[in-house]
Amino acid sequence: MSQLFAKKPLNVLLAEMESGNRLRRILGPVQLTSLGVGCIIGVGIFVVTGAVAHDKTGPAMMLSFAVAGLACVFAALCYAEFASLVPVAGSAYTYAYATLGELLAWIIGWDLVLEYGVGAATVANGWSGYFQDFIGMFGLKLPALLSAAPFDFNLQTGHLQATAALCDLPAILIVAIITAILVKGIRESASFNAVMVIIKLAIVLFVIAVGAFYVDPKNWHPFAPYGYTGISLFGQSICGQTSSGGQPLGMLAGAAITFIAYIGFDSVSTHAEEARNPRRDVPIGIIASLVICTLLYAAVAAVLTGMVPYDQLDIHAPVSRAFEKVGLPWAQFIISSGALAGITSVLLVLMLSQPRVLLAMARDRLLPPGFFGAVHPRFRTPWKSTILTGACVSILAGLLPLRFLMELVNIGTLLAFMIVCASVLIMRRTHPHAERAFRAPLVPLVPVLGIAFCLLLMFALPWENWLRLGVWLLVGFAIYFGYGRRHSLLNPRVAASAPAAPTAAKR
Ligand code: ALA
Repeated sequence: MSQLFAKKPLNVLLAEMESGNRLRRILGPVQLTSLGVGCIIGVGIFVVTGAVAHDKTGPAMMLSFAVAGLACVFAALCYAEFASLVPVAGSAYTYAYATLGELLAWIIGWDLVLEYGVGAATVANGWSGYFQDFIGMFGLKLPALLSAAPFDFNLQTGHLQATAALCDLPAILIVAIITAILVKGIRESASFNAVMVIIKLAIVLFVIAVGAFYVDPKNWHPFAPYGYTGISLFGQSICGQTSSGGQPLGMLAGAAITFIAYIGFDSVSTHAEEARNPRRDVPIGIIASLVICTLLYAAVAAVLTGMVPYDQLDIHAPVSRAFEKVGLPWAQFIISSGALAGITSVLLVLMLSQPRVLLAMARDRLLPPGFFGAVHPRFRTPWKSTILTGACVSILAGLLPLRFLMELVNIGTLLAFMIVCASVLIMRRTHPHAERAFRAPLVPLVPVLGIAFCLLLMFALPWENWLRLGVWLLVGFAIYFGYGRRHSLLNPRVAASAPAAPTAAKR
């Protein structure tokens, strides 16, 4: 029982940083911020905005972005404090291991698989939509059988139903290509990411600067046709309107969906081990990338809903179609290609982050180290788990619809953010004098607000997501109690029988 709450001592974490077989330290603050931006701006702004404004919020989507951004700011401040305190790979998983004990660390690590792994599948799915829109401009069309997932949501009933398709082939192929790039190495990945980030920032600025001339303020009225709330408690609406299928509608319900647009700033913390000066640069990377993206999102949401009445926004490629609608069809080509580049870089960073979390878990023996801990002798990348991640992501992306994947990612990530906020509160009490290059301001207010906002957004998601999260966690428990708990380095029997194991040796 005591093992479930056993914590990994902070000095052990820091000592592990100095041991051999580590990843290469080559990332500075600009590259870290660029990795953050690379992971943030993607399907959330280029794809999800259309459906959110159209179905849930109207022009009040601007506020949805602000609310979701605020939840992320509180969580980001807590992430930044932790990243400066425990600057090793593994992100929130590692932080929880140092503060909340092994079981909660496992829960959060398993939850991060939702955020990064299932998140990558969501993004690959959105990528495929833009890809098909792009080749459509050249008169090309994929056979229907290979163009989408075999299931999709019926918007009226909110339930899954069969489509005429077999699988989403472009989604599967893009995941395979990104996997190959990632196995080859972080330096190549970081440069590839930097080029992609420049392209997508240019496109987003183009949308804001050119789109602003086509805004008609009349389109912002009514501002919140579905209201400002949208909360349900496990299926019972407690405030705001609901759809005919019982889904919450309104500004908050929109915030719970647009939240996906911000996912990614935390991935900067998974690269602490590859940062040249992690205590200073990782907090800079997290906060800078979040601030840049929040400003851009607010501007794009205002421009988009100002250009086209919300009920006429396209659901699959809303940004490029908005320009077509105001009489700038040439802009559709520029925006679609930029969106493709942007979404590709998100996919790259998510798939880069996932194996690094698994690597951290394998080093603690919560997962088999021979597989998940294997670092390639020449490329110095966690190649086996990168390939496994690629295989799982392509199956999910090829077979499940965007909305299903996206809502699951959001609820899982919100839970992870809550645990990080709680960890900061606990760590301030248990290790008040530990060195923190960055301290979150106004503690305990900031972490408490972070927890409150994340809970609010979780209750603004359709209730089935709680059920899916529950099933996901049950599978995680089965793996932990079947493998992790018995092999963990904090298991007294393992520590006694393997005194040479790195963590045990230093304790
Ligand atoms: N924030 C990322 C995106 O919107 C996941 O694509």
